[in-house]
Amino acid sequence: RKPKTGILMLNMGGPEKLEDVHDFLLRLFMDTDLMKLPVQNKLGPFIAKRRTPKIQEQYSKIGGGSPIKHWTSMQGEGMVRLLDDLSPDTAPHKFYIGFRYVNPLTEDAIEEMERDGVERAVAFTQYPQYSCSTTGSSLNAIYRYYSNRGDRPKMRWSVIDRWPTHPLLVECFAEHIRNELLKFPDDKREDVVILFSAHSLPMAVVNRGDPYPQEVGATVQRVMERLGHCNPYRLVWQSRVGPMPWLGPQTDEVIKGLSERGKKNILLVPIAFTSDHIETLHELDIEYAQVLAEECGVENIRRAESLNGNPLFMKALADLVQSHLKSNEPCSRQLTLRCPLCTNPTCGQTKAFFASQKLS
Ligand code: FES
Repeated sequence: RKPKTGILMLNMGGPEKLEDVHDFLLRLFMDTDLMKLPVQNKLGPFIAKRRTPKIQEQYSKIGGGSPIKHWTSMQGEGMVRLLDDLSPDTAPHKFYIGFRYVNPLTEDAIEEMERDGVERAVAFTQYPQYSCSTTGSSLNAIYRYYSNRGDRPKMRWSVIDRWPTHPLLVECFAEHIRNELLKFPDDKREDVVILFSAHSLPMAVVNRGDPYPQEVGATVQRVMERLGHCNPYRLVWQSRVGPMPWLGPQTDEVIKGLSERGKKNILLVPIAFTSDHIETLHELDIEYAQVLAEECGVENIRRAESLNGNPLFMKALADLVQSHLKSNEPCSRQLTLRCPLCTNPTCGQTKAFFASQKLS
């Protein structure tokens, strides 16, 4: 049946095979919405080529590729199955995957949606917390798709641009933390420090007024409330690269610092991605929970599972889309405000594009 509502699940994506690593990095370092490099069309390819062997080695240690497409497909299938029941008026629903740096690319997914004759298109970011470098970049890609063709969309578009405190998302995180806490020795459980770890951002992005740190903090707050503040916790930041200042404290330095201060039972919780990816499977599990933890004498360190195939998470996704469709709002109020120090003109055009969609 022809899909009435198309849900475009937006994410950065990850290389499925080692041969895809270079193209993934090339697209990433050429993305001017994500980062601005001097002479980017020369420096971007240079950095991508130089980093390829190291990143390929990391992927080879986690099974040869990123599982993000696998998990996104499973989540999408669960979501549309529920939606067809929950919202018969907007059925049939079909999900599409729009990755920013690997196939299926966002632009190809939009083309497929237009070809399928979708009437109502929902751009649904899979990053619960909004950043201009992640969700913003994906939304700019949708805007550019149409503006480069000088074409108007045949579908009516709207956006789910953030959902950091959705109750079912919060419940999923809380459930995964509870499960993992139970795996610590009984006499150590109370001593466990929960470290919520999110991908860091360069301070240049934070200081132009990006909402991401604020939104990650909101998720953490709600999750800890849901858990009745059972353990002490901190929000820490991982995956810093390059010589410029990044938002901290850094996850690895915090693990070391806690251990030096006698806190040797640690639970790592990836809080800004919903599926496993290189930053959970390699950085948290191998670099920190194995190598670093052993180096600094941590007694027990575990990592809460990513939301991956959790049926409650699929329910969260379906609930988000259902309420969004019901609201008839093209986007959140927050999306209409540019970062106070934004210098990227596309951001303004993208926001105007979504805010001006006529939904009824
Ligand atoms: Fe945030 Fe442009 S960088 S709106």
